[in-house]
Amino acid sequence: MIKEIKDDSLLPKICNLENDLFNNDKYNKKQFDEMLHNCKYKIFAYVNTELLGYIIIYDNIDYYEVFKIGVNKNYQNNGIGSQLINFVKNLDYVNKLYLEVNSTNLVAINFYKKNGFRQNGLRKNYYGQGEDGVLMEWSSDF
Ligand SMILES: CC(C)(COP(=O)(O)OP(=O)(O)OC[C@H]1O[C@@H](n2cnc3c(N)ncnc32)[C@H](O)[C@@H]1OP(=O)(O)O)[C@@H](O)C(=O)NCCC(=O)NCCS
Repeated sequence: MIKEIKDDSLLPKICNLENDLFNNDKYNKKQFDEMLHNCKYKIFAYVNTELLGYIIIYDNIDYYEVFKIGVNKNYQNNGIGSQLINFVKNLDYVNKLYLEVNSTNLVAINFYKKNGFRQNGLRKNYYGQGEDGVLMEWSSDF
């Protein structure tokens, strides 16, 4: 089941998952708490008997940005990430999604392509030497 997070009860679990999945650009409990109370951010969680994944989108006025997406390592490649993306695509206020991903994160790039995203730009060496920022977009018009 995918549900929007509206209180802080699941934040510690989201934080743990974030810590497990990301090395550098990870957010802490305080930052998640700030997102929760900032109406520009929306946090959705995939919950089975436990938290298996989450997606955060950010309202950039004329489009939404996929700010973060993560799935528990033991449950990856089972369609959970795609369900989270599809859930967000189907929200009536979402017509366009933009994101940036490290060019070395081939799993994520494959994942986004499989889910209908197209590359629309490149920030050379954005994450360091040889690590570009790949800009991608999805539109309901595609
Ligand atoms: C990216 C991520 C969210 C995908 O979630 P997921 O639940 O595993 O994805 P799905 O099962 O819905 O999609 C599977 C597709 O993703 C890609 N993929 C997933 N795991 C893969 C792997 N180990 N190797 C290559 N491609 C992979 C493939 O395109 C795959 O499609 P296919 O099965 O037809 O080949 C997940 O891998 C993850 O949490 N990664 C770590 C965090 C991260 O990098 N987030 C994105 C940057 S913010």
